[in-house]
Amino acid sequence: MAELEGKVAIVTGSGRGIGKAVAKVFAREGAKVVVASRTPATVEAVAQEIRDEGHTALGVPTDVSQKDQILAMVATTVEHYGTVDILINNAQGFGTAEKPRASTIPTPIEDTDDAEWDYTFRTGATATLWGMQAVFPYMKEHGGRIVNFASGSGMDGFPGNTPYNATKEAIRALTRTAAREWGKYAISVNTVNPSLRTDAWENWEANNQEFVQGLKDKMPLGFLGDPEQHGAPWLVWLAGKGGEYVTGMTIMLNGGRHMP
Ligand SMILES: NC(=O)c1ccc[n+]([C@@H]2O[C@H](COP(=O)([O-])OP(=O)(O)OC[C@H]3O[C@@H](n4cnc5c(N)ncnc54)[C@H](OP(=O)(O)O)[C@@H]3O)[C@@H](O)[C@H]2O)c1
Repeated sequence: MAELEGKVAIVTGSGRGIGKAVAKVFAREGAKVVVASRTPATVEAVAQEIRDEGHTALGVPTDVSQKDQILAMVATTVEHYGTVDILINNAQGFGTAEKPRASTIPTPIEDTDDAEWDYTFRTGATATLWGMQAVFPYMKEHGGRIVNFASGSGMDGFPGNTPYNATKEAIRALTRTAAREWGKYAISVNTVNPSLRTDAWENWEANNQEFVQGLKDKMPLGFLGDPEQHGAPWLVWLAGKGGEYVTGMTIMLNGGRHMP
């Protein structure tokens, strides 16, 4: 039997990049997948790609900076599939609500902009909290798996990434807190810190070439991973049997670049 057979999984930020890879691989593992991302056209395209492969997916356009849209995402999931077993809090916005960006632009801590701080938190730690709160009533009844996305950038304090680093470390704190509070309901909550080639990575690399080359040089495995090939399989494990006995952890999906 496939690892996630019959499970209902919501993946935020699944219009491209890591979220899209996770949605596709989860569906191949038997999950009924809700593709929840900001741009309606990409949401529908990814859901259709999954259905074209013969699997089950529903597209629910969702801007995670809006609490009512997160609540509607979970309500629509339950309406269609009866419950929710897995939540992957992968979406993260950059820039500001008025001017979203593809990634961070290096900015000294003393010049950090209030609007960027607010939007980075709203689409990061705050959206992660809202998602967790929205699925809790269902997971409390039958257990569940939550995987949140943080970053080695926050863990190491990469220069020039102040709001991003802060919201990602807040997400790791949320993960540990929920893991302790919700373990009694058989809900496991873990964080993934990835280094995987996506649009966000490439945009960030283009703005930080020397620094990012230095990071890649520190990867003992010697290559930058692919979301579908090297990222999603770990998420399948965490969302399936692996999550039965692993909670509150930060999984470093980074070719060995950072070894805590
Ligand atoms: N790639 C890496 O190596 C790396 C490293 C460290 C951490 N991460 C974390 O891993 C996660 C995925 O990163 P990625 O590299 O796959 O990013 P990506 O390629 O930029 O994809 C991000 C996805 O999130 C969606 N999104 C952005 N803002 C949103 C919002 N307000 N509401 C809903 N969806 C939104 C985007 O949707 P639209 O297409 O509609 O904009 C897109 O589908 C993020 O949390 C990121 O911080 C990634």
